[in-house]
Amino acid sequence: MMRHTAQSISKKVMIIAALSGIAAFANLSPALAADTAATAIEKGKAVAVDRKKGNCLACHAMDDGALPGNIAPPLVSMKLRYPDRAKLREQIWDATIRNPNSIMPPFGRHQLLSEEEIDNITDYILTL
Ligand code: HEC
Repeated sequence: MMRHTAQSISKKVMIIAALSGIAAFANLSPALAADTAATAIEKGKAVAVDRKKGNCLACHAMDDGALPGNIAPPLVSMKLRYPDRAKLREQIWDATIRNPNSIMPPFGRHQLLSEEEIDNITDYILTL
């Protein structure tokens, strides 16, 4: 009897442990996803403002970026103006697709930035 009870208790403990493990995982994953998104945006901003990388501020006013140039339109209300993320990404990847005479560097086509950097910049620009 004693043994039986001890066994059934330890079984219950294991089941509870397994269930709470599932619960913890279920709680964690949205937080993890949010973390990953925040990191992509932060990385995107870092590359965008880096004078040796995106250097977007040379031409665009953008966010809280210091000393922006004004030879290109300010990057504002981007989500509203680019409901299609792919269009915005394409503009950064190769501006000459939309405007063959663009002076904006074709960051993807000329491999000035990696595909991942362009993804992160796109996510960042969409927050502006
Ligand atoms: C040498 C100047 C220059 C640099 C550097 C530059 N751009 Fe541009 N960008 C332009 C110009 C000029 C335009 C206007 C459209 C065109 O001529 O292609 C433009 C247009 C855009 C547009 C479309 C704006 C709109 O109103 O629809 C986006 C988005 C954009 N640039 C993002 C970026 C990002 C992000 C970076 C940095 C990774 C960057 N640009 C770097 C010159 C530049």
